[in-house]
Amino acid sequence: MELITAINRRRSARKFLPKSPEREQILPIMEAARFAHSIANRQVLRYSVILNKVKSRHISDYVNLSSNTDKEEFAPPSAYIICCGPEGDSPSLFADVGTAFQNMSLAAMTEKLSMCFITQFDSEQIKQQFELENGYKILAIFALGYAAESSVAYNAETLPEHIENASDSRIIQIPKLRASQITTWIE
Ligand SMILES: Cc1cc2nc3c(=O)[nH]c(=O)nc-3n(C[C@H](O)[C@H](O)[C@H](O)COP(=O)(O)O)c2cc1C
Repeated sequence: MELITAINRRRSARKFLPKSPEREQILPIMEAARFAHSIANRQVLRYSVILNKVKSRHISDYVNLSSNTDKEEFAPPSAYIICCGPEGDSPSLFADVGTAFQNMSLAAMTEKLSMCFITQFDSEQIKQQFELENGYKILAIFALGYAAESSVAYNAETLPEHIENASDSRIIQIPKLRASQITTWIE
């Protein structure tokens, strides 16, 4: 897939098939993480890849994926990547998380996998199950798996005030402002 097509088609997934990704499929995602931008090239982020089903279920209980209410019908993510960084580091460290996630979610597409960036999670509960490196805290959690929904972007003039759950839960429409609306040209 052309890089620009992948960038434009990448969407967050929140409903997944029960099938688990293999470790080999996740290796290119971690390779993509290591090549990401980082502030002053410090490369301080560390990742725990959770492939264990029981541990993944535990994480699912403590993350807020905005549409994982109908757990009966769709499986929660079968894998997660916990992204950690040094405690007390500059808030701009979160920019490193963003650049890493972007690389990783594009790399995931080459394996037909989808991801979702999660910032709403119960850190204390999740930490109980995993031994973090000393002095490190959880910055973000990335859901990972085979998407059970298709999500498509459309050109929007304005963004809706509330994010509404789509009635057809398999096709999620994601409004995106046009480039002309988010860009000022200074020539
Ligand atoms: C910093 C950040 C935090 C996010 N946190 C969550 C989250 O906690 N739960 C969730 O379901 N989605 C989360 N998302 C995903 C966004 O909701 C999603 O990117 C947005 O709705 C646009 O959809 P798209 O990624 O399909 O283009 C987060 C995204 C970013 C960049």
